[in-house]
Amino acid sequence: MERTLIILKPDAVQRQLVGRIIGRFEDKGFKIVGAKLRRIPRQTLERHYSDHKGKPFYQRLLAFMSKDPVVILALEGKNAIAVCRKMMGATFGSKADAGTIRGDFGISDSFNLIHGSDSPEAAAKELQLFFDTDELVSYDIISAPWIYDEDELVEPPSLPRTPP
Ligand code: RTP
Ligand code: MG
Repeated sequence: MERTLIILKPDAVQRQLVGRIIGRFEDKGFKIVGAKLRRIPRQTLERHYSDHKGKPFYQRLLAFMSKDPVVILALEGKNAIAVCRKMMGATFGSKADAGTIRGDFGISDSFNLIHGSDSPEAAAKELQLFFDTDELVSYDIISAPWIYDEDELVEPPSLPRTPP
């Protein structure tokens, strides 16, 4: 099981798409283990997007991301990092495939609704940046044995099994 950091960007909040986007991740079987609504301080964004410092879109990106509140999520599940990126779609709304979040809900190349960690290293850094340890909550969901094959669960389901 992996954890990934997802940000529903200000355009997702302003366009009232939060519920529908979170619903896609829940439908897939991911578990929400952290959630908050915040306006992200510029200093935090500079750390978050440090790899993009100096790029032509960097200042616009920081202005866009700091202007209005975002929803920050920590999601847990099998291959969460790669699967969430796939569900998000390509960076530009105009290029993202239909069936992806960016492909279905947006056309803009800058206001592209969602951020997701792109590697295990990025996920570790970003989860730490946006959540205190006690803000990430471990718990079981009762549908886990139906979402995953038993072998895929970290711990086997504790529910009693009825013989067929
Ligand atoms: P993100 O980091 O937000 O999950 O997006 P990403 O990996 O798909 O794309 P990345 O290359 O990391 O770019 C970060 C964000 O910067 C904005 N951007 N605008 N106008 C442009 O050329 C341009 N390029 C990037 C987007 O908001 C993108 O998500
Ligand atoms: Mg990125």
